[in-house]
Amino acid sequence: MKKTFRNLLGSAVVIMTSVVLFSFVAPQDQKASAPWVVPANYKSMVNPQKGKGDPENVGKMLYAKHCKSCHGGAGLGDGAKASSMKTKINSLKDGKFQAQTDGEIYFESFIGRDEMPNFEKKIPAVEDRWALVNYMRTLK
Ligand code: HEC
Repeated sequence: MKKTFRNLLGSAVVIMTSVVLFSFVAPQDQKASAPWVVPANYKSMVNPQKGKGDPENVGKMLYAKHCKSCHGGAGLGDGAKASSMKTKINSLKDGKFQAQTDGEIYFESFIGRDEMPNFEKKIPAVEDRWALVNYMRTLK
């Protein structure tokens, strides 16, 4: 009887220790980002600055100011706030991300959804938005 109790107690200690250790190893159980549903009028949007890059570093500057804190300096999805998000942030260098149209990237970046904030007010000039899209294209 006594032995059984000690065994039980031993197992409980092992389980509790594992739970505590595991909570340090696995930082957060984030959910994967679901595919974006981009309205057709955004998907087919024409980027008037296509192929012009980001010569004056407008996009780069806006990225550092508004996006880096979550998306990370190189776009890997590892910014300072990334681990506090419920949704995992995908890398902007990813082939799947880069395969999207400029309009899809525009919608995701400025309209947003859930934890991805809307930036229409913070980045009001359309030229600035496209410069930022062009900058994201350089991250691949
Ligand atoms: C507060 C943190 C936060 C900030 C700041 C932020 N994002 Fe995001 N972003 C997210 C999260 C979280 C997701 C994933 C959301 C989802 O899948 O529902 C995301 C997703 C995206 C996506 C879609 C990527 C993909 O492949 O799923 C793009 C594009 C994007 N963000 C661009 C930007 C741009 C551009 C800025 C700056 C103007 C920015 N984000 C600022 C948190 C942020």
